Order: sequence, then C-alpha cells, then structure tokens
Amino acid sequence: MSLLVSNLTKVFGKKQVLQSLNLEFTTGVYGILGANGSGKTTLMRIIANVMRPSEGNIYYDGRDITIMDHQYRDLIGYLPQHVGLYKQFTAEKFLHYIATLKGLSKKEAKVKVKETLELVGLYDRRKEKVGKFSGGMKRRVGIAQALLNDPKILIVDEPTAGLDPKERIRFRNLLSTIASNRIVLLSTHIVSDIEFIAKEVIILKDGRLIQKESPQLLLKELEQKVWKVIVSNEMEIPAFQQSYKVGNIVKTEAGMELRIISDTMPSPHAVAVQPNLEDLYLYYFDEEVA
Ligand SMILES: Nc1ncnc2c1ncn2[C@@H]1O[C@H](COP(=O)(O)OP(=O)(O)OP(=O)(O)O)[C@@H](O)[C@H]1O
Ligand SMILES: [Mg+2]
Repeated sequence: MSLLVSNLTKVFGKKQVLQSLNLEFTTGVYGILGANGSGKTTLMRIIANVMRPSEGNIYYDGRDITIMDHQYRDLIGYLPQHVGLYKQFTAEKFLHYIATLKGLSKKEAKVKVKETLELVGLYDRRKEKVGKFSGGMKRRVGIAQALLNDPKILIVDEPTAGLDPKERIRFRNLLSTIASNRIVLLSTHIVSDIEFIAKEVIILKDGRLIQKESPQLLLKELEQKVWKVIVSNEMEIPAFQQSYKVGNIVKTEAGMELRIISDTMPSPHAVAVQPNLEDLYLYYFDEEVA
C-alpha cells in the first residue's frame, strides 16, 4: 500500500500555504510536526479529500484519487482538528449515526460500532452522553468514528490537544496498535506524542517540507548540536539567550544549567549532550517548545 503526494501546492488568495510538497507514505505512523499556521491541517484536509489542492496530485497505489472518487473516500478515516460531537447522543448512538452517514448497512454498523467502542475502551460507557465525557474520552469517540469504515488511511489532526498525560499515553498506544496495517498520519506540535510511535517525522515550515526522516535519524543529525552549559551567575543567561536557542534552564548545585541548541560550541566549557525530539523542535522552530 502506498500513498503518494506529488507536487502539492495550495494557495488561498495570494497566500501560498503549501509549496510543492512531495511525500510518500506506506503503512505505519507518520508524525507531522509544525508550528501554528505551517500548513498541517491544510495538508491533511487535502489528503482526506475534503479540500482540493491548487496544484499537484495524490496517488493511492498508483491511481489518482480524483479518479477513484468514492472508492478513495471509503479508504479514509478522518478526525478533524475541531470535531463537533452531538452532545446529546450517547456514544453508541453517535457512532451508529456516523456509520449510517458512511453508508454502512445496519448489520455492518452493529458489528463495527461494538468493535470500535471496544478498541477505544468505551464499550462499558456506550450508553452515556458524549457531552458528559472528558476531553480524552471525546477524542476516543472521535477516533472510533474515524475507524468505523475500517479505513486504510487514518488521518488525525492534533488528536492529543487538551489531553492529560495519562490519556495521551493511552491514545498513543491506541494509534500504534491501529497502525500495523494502515497508514496513520498524525499532526501535533507536541513532540513526545510521536517520539516513540512515528516511523517518520515530517517537519513543515511555512508550507514547505523541511525534513522527512525517522526520529532516530533526525536525532542523530542533532548530535554535537545540543550542549549543556553551566553558568554560576544568572546575569550571564540573557547573553546566551540572545546568541543561541536556549531550551531548559535548570537550577543545579553547580549553578544554572542551560540546554543550548547550536551548530557550534556555545562556550569553551560547554559539554555535548544526547539530543531529544524537543531539541529538534527548537532547532527547526524558533518559538518555545509547546
Ligand atoms: N480556508 C482558508 N482560507 C484562507 N486561509 C486559510 C484557510 N485555511 C487555512 N488558511 C491559512 O493557511 C495557513 C495554514 O493553516 P493550517 O490550518 O493548515 O495550519 P496548521 O499547521 O494546521 O496550524 P495549527 O497548528 O494552528 O493547527 C494559515 O496561515 C491559515 O491562516
Ligand atoms: Mg491545524
């Protein structure tokens, strides 16, 4: 199974939001990382076939998706960034409703609703109203609806926004289970969401592809670019912040310890440290780590 994004461009008015993207996906989880406005949602909407590109094509196993039409839609499960659930519906009723919209027969719907509720761990809560669920549970209902048609391509846009750490881990494990025989595209600006489950990380900046690589390789490229510097006087910190990207600052017995991302050694006393994906985010994006 392969999904090929070829020369994809999206323009809104005069603004070029996606710029000639070329990407290839096979089964597994792909983490799409980018700052606000970098084009993640636009890319996902185009791949989900709910928005048309200005230029470029998408091919599923070599076939242009615009020619496949509903055949392609049947392959897609999509959890939008802002999803409206029908609050008055119970989880079960809501899923039955979506199953109908997706064209499942009554018999199929019965099987799939039960199956997806079990998968997301909400079967016991199926009779409760969605409006009363926690953020994490609502997200799980969102995933369940996206999985009803057993999609080969699952697209989830910032699914962990607003979840607590426990729910986030649960969600991550759920996605990794689901991804064994599907293409899963997951956008986030929370690096730890994809650190362990993504086969590749796609970094977008202003609609352009900056990197597409396994997390391991990306981190390898950062070796000798992440440093630890200890300063005894707090007054020295602003000078580092002006010249370098500074991550965590921690108070230690020896003084203030700064984590610095820099191609060159930021100080004669700097010590190179093991990079992590948070460093990667700082390396590619100027703003604070989300
Ligand atoms: N329908 C639209 N009309 C005009 N401009 C749009 C439209 N949708 C998105 N944009 C613009 O396209 C750019 C990319 O938006 P997009 O929502 O794809 O970014 P994102 O990476 O998903 O951001 P976020 O992290 O905030 O969700 C932004 O500058 C946005 O303002
Ligand atoms: Mg978005």
